Amino acid sequence: MKIGILTGGGDCPGLNAVIRAIVRKGVFHYNDKFLGFTEGWRGVLESMVQPLDLDAVAGILPRGGTILRTSRTNPVKKERGLDRCIENLSKHGVEALIALGGDDTQSVSQALFERGVKVVAVPKTIDNDLSGTDLCFGFDTAVSIATEAIDRVHTTAEAHNRVIVVEVMGRDSGWIAIYSGVAGGADVILIPEQPFDIEEIASTLKNRHDRGRYFSIVVVAEGAKLTSGPADDERRKKDEFGHVRLGGIGNTLAAEIEIRTGFETRAVVLGHIQRGGSPTAFDRVLATRYGLGAIDMVHRGEFGCMAALRSNKIVSIPLKEAISRNRVVDDEMIEMVHGLFEKTSTKEAVSN
Ligand code: F6P
Repeated sequence: MKIGILTGGGDCPGLNAVIRAIVRKGVFHYNDKFLGFTEGWRGVLESMVQPLDLDAVAGILPRGGTILRTSRTNPVKKERGLDRCIENLSKHGVEALIALGGDDTQSVSQALFERGVKVVAVPKTIDNDLSGTDLCFGFDTAVSIATEAIDRVHTTAEAHNRVIVVEVMGRDSGWIAIYSGVAGGADVILIPEQPFDIEEIASTLKNRHDRGRYFSIVVVAEGAKLTSGPADDERRKKDEFGHVRLGGIGNTLAAEIEIRTGFETRAVVLGHIQRGGSPTAFDRVLATRYGLGAIDMVHRGEFGCMAALRSNKIVSIPLKEAISRNRVVDDEMIEMVHGLFEKTSTKEAVSN
């Protein structure tokens, strides 16, 4: 069978491990041939391809990024976009397509599937916010990087009697913030799921310092919002799927904390450092399992479906289910984390 592969949306550590697993199992067990479409949906739209054989995937397991490169191109927004994708797939003799991506990429997979394209999806996002699956590869790597950063700012915050705000990724969900915040022993964790009041944060920090602590660490997800204040800034640049470019809440928060508390405050924005570099061993294994699952799904004819991790098993679920909504941090997890902290507010977490 001739199978196309693409990676769309933001890159994610482990993408290469998925590609490698698909190609190895496809070649060794199913006698498949592969074609790589480069730069996400742009590659399918504009017929940009590269060979994908055993040689092409040799040595890529520990590499970050994606050998197919990626983009946030949305064919739905282009003139005859979906039709052009279908024409190019057939021009290259591609019988099935495996798309690695988050909800945006997979919304295009679903649209193509509804037009008869045989698509299998693999979930990809460091934000871990795709519903239908318990865990995405890349998340563990991002959390490890963020945790190490929090450990590092701890010592410098302590040395200078400072508050340090660490801004981590997480557009609609605070999974990275909550995991790295707990793992790094943060004093306040702010997530998009729970808008926060700056006055409450300031008094929380003052209480902590009144108790004899002389430094604090605040972890904030880039998508966290103030209870009062402007919503999405319309002047911010948007991608082809309509998402504004985030980033900046850490600096805003640091300035507001300093004004309200008088504590010297700094902000650190981790940004794309969380997405770059080599995947953890855990993510390499998880990504490999997703890849093996996806190629088996192609040969079982499970099109319009996504490989998903459920109860530590790779299963196949309808793609529609996965893109129907975001997977936000659940109340149970938030409640559990509150157990670690003093009862001053339901909206933020405060350490002793
Ligand atoms: O979608 C994952 C993500 O890493 C978000 O957390 C972040 O807001 C966004 O991508 C950044 O996108 P870009 O790489 O296009 O700046």
